[in-house]
Amino acid sequence: MIIQLKTCSLRTWQEGDVQSLSYHANNLNIWNNMRDVFPHPYTIEKAASWIQEGSKIKGTFNLAIEVEGKAVGGIGLIFKEDVYRRTAEIGYWLGEEYRGRGIMTEAVKALTEYAFTNFDLARIYASVFDSNIASVRVLEKAGYRFEARLRKNITKNGQTFDDLIYSIIRE
Ligand SMILES: CC(C)(COP(=O)(O)OP(=O)(O)OC[C@H]1O[C@@H](n2cnc3c(N)ncnc32)[C@H](O)[C@@H]1OP(=O)(O)O)[C@@H](O)C(=O)NCCC(=O)NCCS
Repeated sequence: MIIQLKTCSLRTWQEGDVQSLSYHANNLNIWNNMRDVFPHPYTIEKAASWIQEGSKIKGTFNLAIEVEGKAVGGIGLIFKEDVYRRTAEIGYWLGEEYRGRGIMTEAVKALTEYAFTNFDLARIYASVFDSNIASVRVLEKAGYRFEARLRKNITKNGQTFDDLIYSIIRE
């Protein structure tokens, strides 16, 4: 599948993305804002494993962000279960050299719209480290609303800090 946008396209991860994924994702400035499950260093082996297995895990929906013919970022959903089954969590990252062009704002808007059209979801939310101003801006520009500050909910890199919850509901 492919969602063609102005600044990028969103499409399924492909075998040929291994080098580009490893190159763009292997960045401490990205890792610092992601969960620890996001690898660092992001080796070729880790990239191959994400493309072959990780990106296809049941209960998730993951797309590559393609710019100028290369996969330079990722965006995805984790579908919640049980009584939370009409909720999904959105997550994303972008190679550092592509930032500040509005790419992620467009990608988040597009995936949100796609998700509400194609899946039976009532709510999509994001969990953002409270220091991550760029991600907060992306979510606000994409129509998400601040919902909660979960105090001291995140421990990363030896520091514990607040978790900001932003959400959007199906209109
Ligand atoms: C967060 C991230 C996805 C943003 O991607 P992007 O394509 O650069 O985002 P956009 O260009 O669409 O928008 C970024 C906005 O943040 C603003 N911004 C960026 N850094 C900022 C800072 N330090 N202070 C204030 N605003 C900042 C930009 O000015 C822009 O807002 P504007 O259009 O109002 O000027 C990217 O920085 C990234 O991958 N970071 C590392 C991983 C990560 O944080 N993932 C999200 C986890 S919740």
